[in-house]
Amino acid sequence: MRRESTNAGAPGPKPVDVGHTGARDGGMDSLSVATAGPKEVGFQVKVERTRAPRPKPDSTDLGFGRYFTDHELEATHDGRAWSSARICPFGSTKSDVASGAVQYGLSVFEGLKVFKGADGVLRLFRADAHARRFAKSAEAFCMPPVPQEMFTAAVRALTREDASWHPGDPGSIYVRPTLFGSEEFLGVRPSHAHTFSVILSPVGSYFGAGARPLRLWAEKEYVRACVGGVGWVKTGGNYAASLRAAERARSRGFDQVLWLDAVHHEHVEEAGTMNVFVRVGDRVTTPPLGGSILAGITRDSSLTLLREWGIDVEEHALSLTEITEAAKAGKELEIWGTGTAAVVSSIGEVAWDGGSVKAESTTIATRLKNAITGIQTGREEDKYGWLSPV
Ligand SMILES: Cc1ncc(COP(=O)(O)O)c(C=O)c1O
Repeated sequence: MRRESTNAGAPGPKPVDVGHTGARDGGMDSLSVATAGPKEVGFQVKVERTRAPRPKPDSTDLGFGRYFTDHELEATHDGRAWSSARICPFGSTKSDVASGAVQYGLSVFEGLKVFKGADGVLRLFRADAHARRFAKSAEAFCMPPVPQEMFTAAVRALTREDASWHPGDPGSIYVRPTLFGSEEFLGVRPSHAHTFSVILSPVGSYFGAGARPLRLWAEKEYVRACVGGVGWVKTGGNYAASLRAAERARSRGFDQVLWLDAVHHEHVEEAGTMNVFVRVGDRVTTPPLGGSILAGITRDSSLTLLREWGIDVEEHALSLTEITEAAKAGKELEIWGTGTAAVVSSIGEVAWDGGSVKAESTTIATRLKNAITGIQTGREEDKYGWLSPV
């Protein structure tokens, strides 16, 4: 059984130890963070607390990505090494118009969540997997990867600082680590200076409470990504490039785009900002990670659980034609998307120029959503060591 991190009370690495000195009110503190485990890592964080804490939002009306906590974390890389990090008031990090990030899209990011258990303990979900994907994204753009230990120590330090912002279950804190080219320079080459930043957003449900199954427009003209490109990288350009098609889908009354492969415009790839799963009868299929698809952590968690439950699941290309024919043949059809923000979202209908298909069932999606949120909040056993205490 794969064990990537640890739950409270479970064997494995201990939580990050944060030593803490200094005054509470706007003074410069020094936090010393060390991760325990196979390698001891020293990670220094200076803390400059805000003098103007902001009012906290109503936890029943958070939505997604609308609010940010009092502080952010920042570390810089000068081409040779990472500086020590600092926690500072939210909004302190600069982004220069002459930077590679603004000019050439040299920017990669992650999105992970912190959950509060019934025991009141804050826990990160699959932080190590997010750290690994962040490092891979960095390498795709010739950026210095943030070491895994530094990534998790930084996320923990900031989350501890702003722990009072956690809205409690069913809400969570969405963590947004970003790495971007910050050298002032015009010209297409790797940046010689980078900034690693972490910000936190208390969030509720991505699609709102009691979300109905989504309606997707299968996009046959625009493509999100192609094999050999950077569809597998979590970078802003992929999202910027998706907006026009998403707006067109919305103007036609759909919630999101169902992205198709760039060559045949036929095989399903992703559902908006989610990985996609299709169940035809007893068999579940999700597209393989061929380079144009983001390797979703929720996709991976879902595959693990489906296999544990003995469900026939394969990573295989699946065409719109196959889906339509299965529906015409009267086979039970279920479609859903997976992602950190939305967790699991049922998809009730897919339409395109010349056709549409309805998927009425929500059985497996509901089971998966309950299982994943159950693990995240400690209601279900964390068999795979996906949680680690903040
Ligand atoms: C394009 C895209 N695909 C898939 C996902 C799902 O990935 P994860 O489950 O790691 O959040 C996301 C969300 O981040 C995404 O933006």
